[in-house]
Amino acid sequence: MKELSGKTAVVTGAASGLGLAFSEAFAALGMNVVMTDVEAGPLAVEAERIGQTASVLSMTVDVSKADQIRAMHAATIERFGAAHVLCNNAGVGGGGDVADTSIEMWEWVLGVDLWGVIYGCKTFLPGMLAQGEGHIINTASICGQLAFGGNAPYNVAKFGVVALSETIAEETAGTGVNVSCLCPGFVATRIAESRRNLPEGLAAIQPEMTEEEEAIRAAVLEAFATRKPPAEVAELVVNAIANDHFWIFTDDAFQPRMAERAEAMQVGTSRPLIGRMADTFFE
Ligand SMILES: NC(=O)c1ccc[n+]([C@@H]2O[C@H](COP(=O)([O-])OP(=O)(O)OC[C@H]3O[C@@H](n4cnc5c(N)ncnc54)[C@H](O)[C@@H]3O)[C@@H](O)[C@H]2O)c1
Repeated sequence: MKELSGKTAVVTGAASGLGLAFSEAFAALGMNVVMTDVEAGPLAVEAERIGQTASVLSMTVDVSKADQIRAMHAATIERFGAAHVLCNNAGVGGGGDVADTSIEMWEWVLGVDLWGVIYGCKTFLPGMLAQGEGHIINTASICGQLAFGGNAPYNVAKFGVVALSETIAEETAGTGVNVSCLCPGFVATRIAESRRNLPEGLAAIQPEMTEEEEAIRAAVLEAFATRKPPAEVAELVVNAIANDHFWIFTDDAFQPRMAERAEAMQVGTSRPLIGRMADTFFE
């Protein structure tokens, strides 16, 4: 889609990090922006700020609830008449090893990171196909390409988002609707603070963090703050929409491991070990 000015973009997880940067970039291009997030307070502040220079509709939406995604679609059509760009971006990190992660944690992470994207695609695709124009950006992760240890629900959700995006690319070829799969490495956002988004019931049953876990968490937060700024990823996203790129990677450091994985699959040998997620922060 070459001309974005005057068109409408819908962004989930728009109150922070990548979603906020996408919203800013779309607004700067003269697009109408529908900013949605589960965190009402920060969303109101950011939507008010961006709304000073662009047409913004803001709405509290929990992407893990299909009816709330449908309401987001209905509100978009009512206010702006059409949706041209959809960023299924809201996401959370949570859980660890398969043997230790509670079923409730699996359900929360898959609910937001995978079902949220499925609901978004299912709800917005028919309108885009009918109008013969649209672009969906699904935020996966490098964890949708490489299954590091200690990150089980997140890896499964993000591999699912990659599969969903590749499937849509096959099904929409030649229709005027395109899809991109964003696989960030490390970007300076609040993703490592996803516990703030835990639903009440799940927050109540979380075990207290040990001193060691607190120390690792603090080091991870520090490492995240020094990573790529979200605005740089927003530029890649805008470029992918303009030039119809499917893959969006932010971080070359992971490519050799992806190549090793592909090579091992080609020759059908054992899988090369790639280590635990937590260790990759400090490489
Ligand atoms: N930052 C990174 O290094 C990185 C790497 C790979 C993938 N990602 C992905 O990028 C996406 C954006 O995350 P971010 O890094 O900007 O983190 P972030 O925490 O800064 O932003 C995530 C946003 O999603 C919102 N959110 C959480 N649960 C929600 C729900 N149920 N419904 C609606 N909104 C919800 C949060 O309130 C927050 O505003 C996520 O899908 C994440 O998995 C991030």
